[in-house]
Amino acid sequence: MIKALFFGDIYGKPGRRTLLESLPGLKHEFEPDFVIINGENLADGKGLTEKTAKTLFHYGVDIITGGNHLWDRPESWDYIRGNRQIVKPMNYPTVTPGNPICTLSKDGKQLSVITLCGQIYMPPCNSPFETFESWANAFEHKGFGVIVDFHAESTSEKRALGWLADGRVSAVLGTHTHIQTADEEILPQGTAYITDVGMTGPHDSVIGVRKSIILEKFLTSLPSRYESSDRGLQVNAVYLEIDESTGKALSIRRIRRAVELSQNDGQGD
Ligand SMILES: [Fe+2]
Ligand SMILES: [Fe+2]
Repeated sequence: MIKALFFGDIYGKPGRRTLLESLPGLKHEFEPDFVIINGENLADGKGLTEKTAKTLFHYGVDIITGGNHLWDRPESWDYIRGNRQIVKPMNYPTVTPGNPICTLSKDGKQLSVITLCGQIYMPPCNSPFETFESWANAFEHKGFGVIVDFHAESTSEKRALGWLADGRVSAVLGTHTHIQTADEEILPQGTAYITDVGMTGPHDSVIGVRKSIILEKFLTSLPSRYESSDRGLQVNAVYLEIDESTGKALSIRRIRRAVELSQNDGQGD
């Protein structure tokens, strides 16, 4: 059996600290073979940097998935391009920095992870459905696990891709909205599914940003500079068990827990 912990969008420094604070306990509780995070918001909500990613790899993260914000820090493009443990959305242009799949083996267990971005209310990209079809038709996944991070806004688009992928991958896990959904299940052909894993980071916010800033923006329609909240910290994740002989999911468990940091450097709202 392959066991994996997958954390939804890690938002800025508060999200990184929440992950690092809770990871030892969650590893003790679930004993995962692989730890995967969505890292498109690692660096103050926008993209990732070599420093932020390296710290998380050092503390036990195995794979970082991307999303529409993956490339927000141009200084990280070479690092993203050269690091096979960072996965870019497969339905972005070939020239866009990053690797479209990561396959890792540990103790005889193998896991592949891909990311796709949605098209509805999202920056332009190729069809995630067409990309999935051509990739999955050429990919034999029996004997190991395959996780698809579907990074998309629309619940219907995510649900539809879940049905397309059912029985062909181990799990389709939604990210991007930063709001966890309570619809985790194993689809009939054996694919674990959740519309959105949710955000690991500050939930006393509007999807990670200090709520006063976003309220002002909605009230005035004026541009503003975003700052991360640091309140209401939560881990949002799922725990998966995968039958490695069939590649199908055995269970999916949703995790949503408040986290108190041992030391908080404070930033009011
Ligand atoms: Fe995000
Ligand atoms: Fe996103």
